[in-house]
Amino acid sequence: MQIQETKKTIFSGIQPSGILTIGNYLGALRNWVQLQEEYNTYYCIVDMHAITVRQDPSVLKKRCLELLALYIACGLDPEKNTMYFQSHVSAHAELGWLLNCNAYMGELSRMTQFKDKSAKQGNNIGAGLLTYPVLMAADILLFNTDLVPIGSDQKQHLELARDLAERFNNVYGQTFTVPEPYIGKSGARIMSLQEPNKKMSKSDENVNAFISMVDPADVVMKKMKRAVTDSGSGIIYSPDKPGISNLIDIYASCKGVTPKEVEKEFEGAGYGTFKEAVGTAVAEILTPIQQKQKELLSDKAYLEKIFTEGADKARYTANRTLWKAQKRMGLAPRKL
Ligand code: TYM
Repeated sequence: MQIQETKKTIFSGIQPSGILTIGNYLGALRNWVQLQEEYNTYYCIVDMHAITVRQDPSVLKKRCLELLALYIACGLDPEKNTMYFQSHVSAHAELGWLLNCNAYMGELSRMTQFKDKSAKQGNNIGAGLLTYPVLMAADILLFNTDLVPIGSDQKQHLELARDLAERFNNVYGQTFTVPEPYIGKSGARIMSLQEPNKKMSKSDENVNAFISMVDPADVVMKKMKRAVTDSGSGIIYSPDKPGISNLIDIYASCKGVTPKEVEKEFEGAGYGTFKEAVGTAVAEILTPIQQKQKELLSDKAYLEKIFTEGADKARYTANRTLWKAQKRMGLAPRKL
């Protein structure tokens, strides 16, 4: 695959730490697919991020491959996108270290996700949880990334990546491109179906709170019907109707329309009818993706070819940036 230097660069990644939800799809993956034609894209399976909390090794191994198959099943063309496992390109960890030496404890301990996750861990909080956003910054900066398509929960981490890039450039000379976030107009923050003031998350203990990417159509329907709605009636998009607004957002992103258009389409309809329509819209997207993912997983040799070639290509570009950063910091230079 030729690197098309004229195109701007995108980098993004997803952790293989659990079964993905429609939040991951609507907030990230769907936008990646749309952006693949216009950009030079790196879509990584960030396995080293997943191990910041303890994983069962055999489950993690399986999930990594499933996630690669999901990327392709969602519509990412292996001919057009570089897809690989983060741990296969050691430059991620190496640049992570250089950036760690330029990051401050204060800014890392202020990260919302660190505060949330460490509160759940009790006394033994892994150091990786604290330095995780620095590794994420390294992921992005290695490729001189222009744009990072993410859901809004990752915006704070992207801000940190920008700060680290600017700080490094100021101290050691121009080295990194300062990346911009790309956050979709709809679906950027899909909320829990049971507690609509909380983000939909794959780690939620209540399985009715999320729709996973592998839920069959009947389960999607059941979960949608059980979704918490608000008092009153009417399909209205408003901050005082978080439950129904979340469903409107899901429907709008599935159909590629605006919340206003959804309100209009369902004017006069009851919650029951609307929930059924949302369930159908979600299942229509998920069913073909699930079929395709299953097919792909039956051809391990094909998947292996994709992640091996992806890592080879990513390694080449990543090493060039890493070596430049090492040289700037005064480490003995090597030939590019
Ligand atoms: P992760 O694995 O938690 O989530 C992957 C992507 O899905 C988005 N997302 C959501 N979007 C909308 N609604 C939701 N409920 C929802 N839940 C998750 C996330 O915003 C994300 O875009 N740190 C990252 C992974 C990462 C990364 C990177 C991303 C590592 N390095 C470099 C971009 C660039 C993470 O944990 O995402």
